[in-house]
Amino acid sequence: MYGGITFCPFIVGSFDILFQFALVTLQPILDPTVPADDKPIWTSRVEPFQLPPLVRLVLADVAGGSSTPAMVRKVNDWRSKNPDDAKKLWSDIDASNKNLVKALRSLSILYKENTNAYERAVQNLSLLPPSRWETADALEVTRPAVQAFDRAHRASEATRTLMRGMGESAGVDIEPAPQTELLNRSIAQAGVIGGGVPGAQEHSRGALTACRAGLERIQAT
Ligand SMILES: *[C@@H]1O[C@H](CO)[C@@H](O)[C@H](O)[C@H]1NC(C)=O
Ligand SMILES: *[C@@H]1O[C@H](CO)[C@@H](O)[C@H](O)[C@H]1NC(C)=O
Repeated sequence: MYGGITFCPFIVGSFDILFQFALVTLQPILDPTVPADDKPIWTSRVEPFQLPPLVRLVLADVAGGSSTPAMVRKVNDWRSKNPDDAKKLWSDIDASNKNLVKALRSLSILYKENTNAYERAVQNLSLLPPSRWETADALEVTRPAVQAFDRAHRASEATRTLMRGMGESAGVDIEPAPQTELLNRSIAQAGVIGGGVPGAQEHSRGALTACRAGLERIQAT
């Protein structure tokens, strides 16, 4: 272990000034009570998002992930030297990420529309590795959920392949070989939707999304 973190309790009252914001006039652009429509320079949108029901996200800590800051530097170097390739890759990754979000959103909707059919789809898929979801036997009523889970799996794998491609082009281990092997083996398990190396911290960890029943089995083995 290298270094440590000391947590100190806040001094009582140290935030009082922040809670007095009602007493000072905020610039409208910062004021949370001003509707977003009245802030035309904000082009970002906030859309609610959640994992679909009966889906869990698990994080795995690994020894020897890749160092994110150094990696980002090298990727940016490559990007500035290969703007056309980079532009295409970025837009492919964006499209693939959006496909994943779309598939997950449609799963949440399908759950609301027919909870029983959704639960039965999850029950069946949690017994099958995702490579077999596309051709899985499914009742007519469960098919939309089965197909949406399959789309989520494909999009997740497509993003992973593109990110690995980025790593190869830029000469960095975005998904280090031991993690590729670990992820491949994890994603070959029944009930696992997909996985990746999120890399949001100094050292990247692995993450998996899986149907709950699939996960319970993975944890038991
Ligand atoms: C679950 O899978 C079995 C065997 O593949 C299939 O016969 C059945 O129709 C599936 N159930 C649902 C609810 O789709
Ligand atoms: C991992 O899976 C991907 C996609 O199926 C494949 O292209 C790659 O060769 C696999 N790598 C290893 C080390 O198993």
